[in-house]
This record gives sequence, structure tokens and C-alpha cells, in this order.
Amino acid sequence: MSATAIILIAVVAVVILGAIAFLSLARKSDVRGAGALSAETVQRDKASRSTERKSSAAAEAEAAGVAARTSTSVTTVADKAPVPWSPPDRDAIGVSRRQFLNRATVALMTAGLGTFAAASFLAFLWPSATGGFGGRVPVGRLDEILREVRTGSGFFYASEARTWITAYPAEALPKAELAYDAAMLPGMRAGLVATYQKCPHLGCRVPECLSSQWFECGCHGSQYNRVGEHKGGPAPRGMDHFAIDVSPAGDVIVDTGTVIQGTPLGTNTTGQEAEGPNCVGEADH
Ligand code: FES
Repeated sequence: MSATAIILIAVVAVVILGAIAFLSLARKSDVRGAGALSAETVQRDKASRSTERKSSAAAEAEAAGVAARTSTSVTTVADKAPVPWSPPDRDAIGVSRRQFLNRATVALMTAGLGTFAAASFLAFLWPSATGGFGGRVPVGRLDEILREVRTGSGFFYASEARTWITAYPAEALPKAELAYDAAMLPGMRAGLVATYQKCPHLGCRVPECLSSQWFECGCHGSQYNRVGEHKGGPAPRGMDHFAIDVSPAGDVIVDTGTVIQGTPLGTNTTGQEAEGPNCVGEADH
């Protein structure tokens, strides 16, 4: 089951539990507290008071009761032996309906929130093996991507991987082997380099500049060549990268689980200069 499905199930569970809690609280607000008379009882009481007529027999009985109470001797506390207190039997008392509902609501809410937290935690710790950013993302066929970056605009954007894919020139491979992380070399030997879209300066998304054939950040003007090497602006290094795997069937997979830090300032393995006007100003060099 994917992380998205787990989170979805957890969210549905929390919504259901929230509805149960709401209904329970709404019912609770109708009751004014322990020992209060219901509205129906109060109404019946008023009606009976207004219509009740004491019979003479009842009046006599009442008078006899009053006389008995006032004429009998009062039993003092000293006359009676103290009765030791014993705690009430919880089983005999039982649990009221309201107590049961309150406890059930709290228990269900706690269980729901616990499930949600556990699912989120597991999804965070257990990134999906394929399909989403943070894992291995298939982005297309090698021949189609190569065709697009070589004969099209020069740039292929893989939105699910938040990655630009561009061509890496074969003649620059000897320099790349010295300058780049070894995890990137299989992709470069296949003719591609995957560059993370996030600017290493302050994190803006860096767009391509079709006229210069560079990446140029609109936030503060950092510029990078087509393989993400720093060419100008305040960024502290070249753009970060991801490793590329090409399956035996020719499918290109970008491993976004590990960000490979960009090359240091001054790295220039391809020698590519701006091929036209810059989009955000001139480079520093
Ligand atoms: S965020 Fe790109 S140059 Fe500042």
C-alpha cells in the first residue's frame, strides 16, 4: 500500500471519529448536568401543581404525618453506633450511558489520532520505491528524451522528479569523471544529466533560458550552464543533481532519494558559453 493511500485512510478515520465526537458533544449540550430534571418532567410537574386538588383524606394523612414527626423523640447520634464506611461496589454501580459515550469518544479519538500519527511517521520514514519525489521516478524512454534534448529545446522537464534533464556531451566525460559524484556517471555515459530544479542559493525554482541555453534564476540572478555548473550570481555552487539509471529496456529512472550536491564554483566541464541573450542579466565572467 502506498504512503498516499495510508495517509488517505488515516484522514478518513479521523474525520469519522471527529463526527462521532461532534454528535456526542451535541447530545451532551442538551443535558444540563447530573441530577437535573428533564424538560418533560418539569412541564408535567407544573401541570400537576396547577390542577392538583388535595383530597380531604390526603390532607388528613399529611396532618397525621406532621404530628408523628413532631411528637416522636429525636434519636441522637450518641444513641446509634457508627457504621463503618465501605466503598461502593463499582460493578454494582455500573457505568452510565453518558460515561460510556464519553469514554468511547475519547478512546476512539485517541486511537484515530494515534493511527494517523503512526501512518504519517511510517510514510515519512518509508519513501515509496517508485513513483514520487523522494524515490525512484521513471521519467520516460531514453531515446525519446535524447531526441527532445538534442533536437528540441535542449531541456526536458520531469515534473514528478522536479528535475531538468539535459544532454551531457560525450567529449566532456573525462572531466566529468574527475568533477562529479560517481553515482552520476552512468547517466552521463548514457548521454544525460539530471539537475534538481531548486536553486542552491535560496531555493527558488530555476527555469531554463532558451536563448542562452542556460539555467537562470529569476530570484537573485544566479546562472548555470546547461548541465547546472555555476556561471554567475550569488549561488554558492552549481545546481544539485540526481543520479540517473537506464533500465535494460531503455527506461530512464531518476533517483530523487539522494540529492547530489552541485559542483564547486569555477567548475566548467563542458565549456558551454551562453548561446544567445541571457534571461536575467549578464554572467559575472
Ligand atoms: S534563489 Fe536563485 S539566485 Fe537566489
